Amino acid sequence: MKKFGPGTFGKLHAETYDALHNPGTTDQAVSLLAELAGNGHTLELAIGTGRVALPLAEQGVDITGFDASPEMLEKLKQKPGGNRIPTSVADMASFDLEERFDFAFLIFNTIYNLTRQEDQVSCFQNVAKHLNPRGKFLVETFVPSKETFERHQAVRTKHVSFDQVWIEAVQHDPVTQNLAYQRIHITAEGVSLSPLPMRYIWPSEMDLMAELAGLKLINRWGGWQREPFTADSDMHVSVYQLQ
Ligand SMILES: C[S@@+](CC[C@H](N)C(=O)[O-])C[C@H]1O[C@@H](n2cnc3c(N)ncnc32)[C@H](O)[C@@H]1O
Repeated sequence: MKKFGPGTFGKLHAETYDALHNPGTTDQAVSLLAELAGNGHTLELAIGTGRVALPLAEQGVDITGFDASPEMLEKLKQKPGGNRIPTSVADMASFDLEERFDFAFLIFNTIYNLTRQEDQVSCFQNVAKHLNPRGKFLVETFVPSKETFERHQAVRTKHVSFDQVWIEAVQHDPVTQNLAYQRIHITAEGVSLSPLPMRYIWPSEMDLMAELAGLKLINRWGGWQREPFTADSDMHVSVYQLQ
């Protein structure tokens, strides 16, 4: 999707993000993230509107964040406590901050928003550069599954009601591991489109990206409550540590 840059997600979604992007696991995520952050200096990559950063800050976590979208950061700032979280505009593939952190995290499939493998590798390398010795990096993503697609595509009905329908269409390129999503919203007023390109990473491939950056896998769970990671897991929460 040529017209989709690092800031496009926020331009399209900042207004409606909180209402329409609730994974249903926020409390569980905050609980595990707070435990891993402890008293350490913590960085959230792609902090968005502060879905988890705000409750973490409320619990006393020393958190800083960045995002490619000024619109998403503006929403964070407008919320109670939002002004107390230091933020900046930066790209996950190329960020360069002056601080060093004990713990960093990138959740809600957001590493897949980098749609080229080399940018995903750079992201791991930049995280490693920003960690203190023995610092940790947590990543949460869905586990890719070829079964979701028939002939490399899928169409799903996400919502149907009296006056509207949401349909999600996706094309899969198994060669590049790219997914091109388009959400189509149809109402009596008309049709609107919500595009999202992604590149998924196999868990083993992610571990190699981490290794290239000097980070080693120390935990992989199938969910935020430390569920075991198995062949049936549809997501993973993985923790890497700087060696
Ligand atoms: C799914 S949201 C996640 C936001 C937040 N971390 C959460 O869990 O609610 C994805 C976020 O990634 C940001 N983003 C997308 N591409 C980015 C990039 N290349 N660098 C930094 N942020 C990016 C978007 O602006 C958006 O805020």
